[in-house]
Amino acid sequence: MNQNLHKVLSVKHWTKNLFSFKVQRPLGFKFKSGEFVMLGLYNENQKPILRAYSICSPSWSEELEFYSIIVENGPLTSKLKNIRVDDEIILMTKSTGTLILDALKTGERLFLFSTGTGFAPFASLIRDPETYEKFNKVFLTHTCRNNNELGYSSQIVNECYNNELIKDFLNDKLVFYQTTTREVSTFNGRITDRINNNSFYNDLKIKKINSNTDRVMICGSLEFNNEFKNLLLDLNFEEGATNKPGNFVVEKAFVG
Ligand code: A2P
Repeated sequence: MNQNLHKVLSVKHWTKNLFSFKVQRPLGFKFKSGEFVMLGLYNENQKPILRAYSICSPSWSEELEFYSIIVENGPLTSKLKNIRVDDEIILMTKSTGTLILDALKTGERLFLFSTGTGFAPFASLIRDPETYEKFNKVFLTHTCRNNNELGYSSQIVNECYNNELIKDFLNDKLVFYQTTTREVSTFNGRITDRINNNSFYNDLKIKKINSNTDRVMICGSLEFNNEFKNLLLDLNFEEGATNKPGNFVVEKAFVG
């Protein structure tokens, strides 16, 4: 028996290019909310094709959920998109990553900025009571091109507000803000633009981000991460790491 093979419990397709799936949490597997693992499938030659996937589930969950994009002709996702309940996938039970609470200094407000599948690690963190023990207020943003790509994040946040286990922790601490860039919705445009022109702050009626009281996590495409990182460096934020907590941390969303 291959110890790294784990059964798929459920699969949900959100759009033509986005799907989520759950596997049973392997016995004894520990991880921190926000971390990623390597997972994948065997190819025709019985060679494993593995990619990094953020765990969407919080650290207390009995199931492990993942959120994936489908890349046309992508070596893994073009096959992974066909998985069904009871199929087996490879899951390496060693987790790692910088988007964890321990990598941030203490602060008052936590800002989680994501694009696309970069929402995944934040789906984990917003369901972890520790997030609300450490911060007074948590602002989560998710930007996609089109409205239908916001379906997964909408559902996760709605579940948070209604989940018996965590809704008391959330109270009025979690604020969710979605924007679309290529289709009309409540808030339009890139989050970086909405920050730079102050509409983000005006919409939420909050004071501007500052490195004294605020901590930030970023997860999206490479360009998004870089642009955001520069925005924060200009505001005197210092990048943190697991062995050296800072004001912000960044990680690239899985793309291949
Ligand atoms: P845009 O439509 O203006 O490119 P993608 O699907 O390409 O990964 O992008 C996901 C979302 O992230 C899109 O809404 C996209 O906006 C936005 N985005 C991409 N690059 C940046 C960036 N450098 N700064 C801010 N937002 C970005």
